[in-house]
Amino acid sequence: HFEGQSMIWLFGYGSLIWKADFDWHQRRPAVIHGLSRRFWQGSHDHRGTPEAPGRVVTLVDEPGAECLGMAYLIDRDLLAPLDLREKNGYLRRVTTMHFVDEPATDSAAAAFAPDSAEGLVYIATAENTAWLGEAPLTRMVEQIGEAQGPSGANADYLHNLADALRKLGGHDEHVFDLDTTLRERMPGAAIPR
Ligand code: BEZ
Repeated sequence: HFEGQSMIWLFGYGSLIWKADFDWHQRRPAVIHGLSRRFWQGSHDHRGTPEAPGRVVTLVDEPGAECLGMAYLIDRDLLAPLDLREKNGYLRRVTTMHFVDEPATDSAAAAFAPDSAEGLVYIATAENTAWLGEAPLTRMVEQIGEAQGPSGANADYLHNLADALRKLGGHDEHVFDLDTTLRERMPGAAIPR
């Protein structure tokens, strides 16, 4: 896939929605089909520790589902450094992203702003060692509310993600339920809005 291309689309559905610390050529809100965002991947290195791992998002197959995120058109050379993420259990998958920003009005512009594109997304599956999987909502909220790691509080990650999705006009029941429940049950863990 993508041989001979100097640029590639990368789909972000977690921290990449609000924070991309790499150069990009284009950044466009997009959805991918057949996958749902879930706080089912453990984080012992960023949003938690080996003793108290946090929870971060991955995608799980779900026919008919849609996942809203942010697509970045980047230089292909950038993928090698980004592949550090594979160490945490994320693997690349080819996916089609459907852009949800304003369609281009003239054909010249449309050539540079197509409605959809093939690209890559990083997914952690149940086969990786950091996988935590599903748990009752209140248990996941407690875990997220308590975990802290080198990248900061796990609660901040959840709130930033929920806020970024709200700003995009999206609705993600799983993320919003966790966010609301965490704010209700553990207000101290929440960054002020
Ligand atoms: C994301 O934000 O989409 C993401 C970040 C790190 C690993 C996998 C996905």
